[in-house]
Order: sequence, then C-alpha cells, then structure tokens
Amino acid sequence: MSTQVVILGASGDLTARKLVPGLFNAWRQGFFPESIQLVGVARRPWNDEDFRAHLAEYVPASIKEKPEWANWLGAVQYIQTHLDSEEDFKNLKNGLEELGGAVSRRIFYLAIKPDLFKPSVAGLSCVGLLAQDEEHRVRVVVEKPFGKDLASAQQLNRDLLTYLSEDQLYRIDHYLGKETVQNILAFRFRNAFFEPLWNQKYVELVQITVAEEVGMEGGRGGYYDTSGAIRDMMQNHVLQLLALVGMEAPASLDAEAIRNEKVKVLESLRPPEEVHMETPHIVRGQYQGYKESSGVNPASETETFMAVRTYIDNWRWGGVPFLIRTGKCLPKRFTSITIQFHMPPHHLFGNWDECHLRPNSITLRIQPNEGIDMTFDVKKPGPGVDMHPTKMEFDYDDEFDEPVAEAYQRLLQDVITGDQSLFIRTDEVEAAWRWADSLRRAMAETPVHEYEPNTWGPDASSELYGECEGRWTRG
Ligand code: BG6
Repeated sequence: MSTQVVILGASGDLTARKLVPGLFNAWRQGFFPESIQLVGVARRPWNDEDFRAHLAEYVPASIKEKPEWANWLGAVQYIQTHLDSEEDFKNLKNGLEELGGAVSRRIFYLAIKPDLFKPSVAGLSCVGLLAQDEEHRVRVVVEKPFGKDLASAQQLNRDLLTYLSEDQLYRIDHYLGKETVQNILAFRFRNAFFEPLWNQKYVELVQITVAEEVGMEGGRGGYYDTSGAIRDMMQNHVLQLLALVGMEAPASLDAEAIRNEKVKVLESLRPPEEVHMETPHIVRGQYQGYKESSGVNPASETETFMAVRTYIDNWRWGGVPFLIRTGKCLPKRFTSITIQFHMPPHHLFGNWDECHLRPNSITLRIQPNEGIDMTFDVKKPGPGVDMHPTKMEFDYDDEFDEPVAEAYQRLLQDVITGDQSLFIRTDEVEAAWRWADSLRRAMAETPVHEYEPNTWGPDASSELYGECEGRWTRG
C-alpha cells in the first residue's frame, strides 16, 4: 500500500507548523509500514527544492534535530498550480501521475481559504481525482471554519457532498486529536468509579474553560474580526468538549456509534435564546487594545471573550448548568473541564459555611500540564472536626515516558487509516451551528464589556454561577 498526501495551500503556516511535523513523526515512529509521499501544492512559483527550503526554515526545531529529517525532507515534492481553471486541475492530475508509482490511498488536505473548498473539490472531481474503488481510496480533509452559521454550513455540506460521500469527507477539529480529549471517554467509560456519579443526581455543575494568553499576534486580526470567540472557539472546540463530557456510552468505539451519541447531546442543548434567568447567562467581552490590532475594524464589537451558562435538556443532565468560557489575552493558557458535585445532604463536619464553598470536584486538565485532579476534604488531625481541602493528582508526565503526541499527528494517522471517529459528521456540524446561531442572536442584546489584557475577562462572568457554589477556575 502506498499513500500520497496532497496538501492544497501548502505554502501556508499550517503545513510547516503542524501537518509536516505530524506526518513526519507518524512515519518516524513506525506508524506507516508502507511509503508515504508528501506533495505540496500552491500558487507560489516554487520547485521541489524551494518548497523543501521553506519547510526546513519553518518546521519546529524539535523536528529539524531528528536524524531522519534531512532524508525525509529530500523526498517531499511540490506542484505549482493556481487551481483556478479546469486546465489547472488537469495539470495537477498529470503532475501527481508523473510522480509515479501506484497509489492506493490519496489524501487531499485542503489547507486553503474556506471559499475555495467548493471550487477545489469540484475541480478535483471534474478531472476524476476523487474517484475511488476498493484498491484506490480517496479522502478529503477540510479545516475549520466549516461555514460561518447554520445556513452557510448546510450549503457547504450540500456543495461538498455533491462530489464526495460522507465517508470521504474528514472535517477537522484539532481538539479531538488531543490525547487528553480522547481520554475523556476512556476515563468515563473504562472506570467503574465515575460514571455512576456522572449525572444530575450528583453533579451540581460542569465548568469548561478554554483560556488563551495570545491575542491577535501573527496577523490574525482580519480573520478573527469576522469570526469572534463564538465562531472561532465555542461552536467547535468548546462544544466538542461538552459533547464528550455529556454523551451517553456508545455501543462500540465505531465512528458512527460515537458520533451518534455526540449529536444527541448537541441536539439536546437548550438554545441560548430560550434560557431565562434573572442574572445574565451570557457575558461577552473584548480586551482593551483589540480594536487597534492590524486587520481589526476600529469600531469592532467582536467578542474576544465569551462565557455562557447552558443546559443539556435530557434525562441525565436536566437542570445542571454547563458553564463554558473561552477568551483571548487572559493571564494563562489552559483548557480544563471541572465536574463539580453537590454538597452532602447533611452537615456533620467542619465549619459548614467555609466547607460549603468547597464542593468535591474532578478536573480534567486538557492542556498544558495534562492530567486529572480529584479534590475533596479530609479531617485535619487533632481534636475537633475541622476539615482540610486536599487533592489526588494524576499527571501524564509522571506516568508515561513518551511525550503526548501532537493532535495533528493522530488526526493524520486516522485519515490515512480511514477512521472517522475523531472527525465531525454533517449532522454534528449543523447541530453545533444551530446552537451557536442562537447564541449569537441572544448575545445581540448583551453589552460587550471591555477587559484589561492579562485579566480573567469581564467581572460579570462570575455572575453566571448564580445560586451554585464556587467560582471559575484559574488553571
Ligand atoms: C484555533 C483557533 O482553532 O485554535 C485559534 O482558530 C486558537 O484562535 C487555537 O488560538 C487554539 O488551539 P490550541 O491547540 O493552541 O489550544
């Protein structure tokens, strides 16, 4: 078997930073017994050597220092084409065929602007590059953003599925490639301790935070200003975490079984327009200085911080608030999920007022410092019944010798072997947009609070706790 990975838009940042390191590491670690040919495709008038020089400059240092890198790089190919006309696609096809050898799997990775998804897939189809049979499989990977709202995502689905079948289409959400995100299902469904507690009877609330230190560095202002935190993070990464935490056990680890359960959660999410509370349930913010970033409209009202109280209206989660939050220019980069339990029904130990603020919790540390914490109280030695807060910790670093693999490596491996479990299905992407659209409409009524960079966003976000105990985690 031989595989050809063809990256359209290969001169961009993603190729050197993520895709090439992911493929190289997968190959180096012996994941592919067969040969893999990497072909970059872009408009720049480069030849193979120019493309290799570009990669050599921009791949991370950890890749360059590997002894196999120079050889591997020497086999990378480049095809220059504009992908504007049928002629361009014919040239691409000829170019790929000239590289020789029988290819049993061809992956087209669309690392291009979203408005080029449809014409590119149409062009590939037109020259026969998407045709597949038992001996020759063809898959197409698309990056986010997948649409900008429900209507555009539905249109894009219709457009792409005209040329591709669902099992050829791999919609990436790189959070699903993170080892700790995959561990959510393993932790929940391989251990007998936790699952019996994982429901409204025992859980008071769930908190999901995706905090970032970065702002608009790297010239992202133009893209981000048309996107904002809802489209950039909430609709995809945050909702995927929520779906994995909230879903029922799948009957198997088969891609369809997992995705069926995730879709049910997303479809059970209460539309933010239908959440009625006395205190706010949506808080949005923009960091000071955002409007001055290059590419950003000086009068922009785009949110760089978003905190929402939402609900999964089903039997398991009825009434449990899910507090979800994401923001740029916060003091620290971390992603975590905290399951916070109800207090015991009867007070026996310690100073109740103080202990009351310390419910038991399980925190899944998604990144960095990957691990899991369980917090609880113990009796302080000595007379009386004073309680002392403590925790049990599991750290990936302490437990495993191998560093946790990068998300893109795992995702590329799965595309090559044809496993869609970590990719977003049509109905899933549409259910997520349905909720995100409702959030955007509901948010139109709420003010955009300014917050200082390097702070935890608008103070108003703590009001989302309402009657519940606790406060937002700080990582
Ligand atoms: C991307 C968003 O999808 O995820 C970025 O477009 C964000 O705005 C990034 O910074 C965060 O990814 P990670 O893996 O660094 O948490």
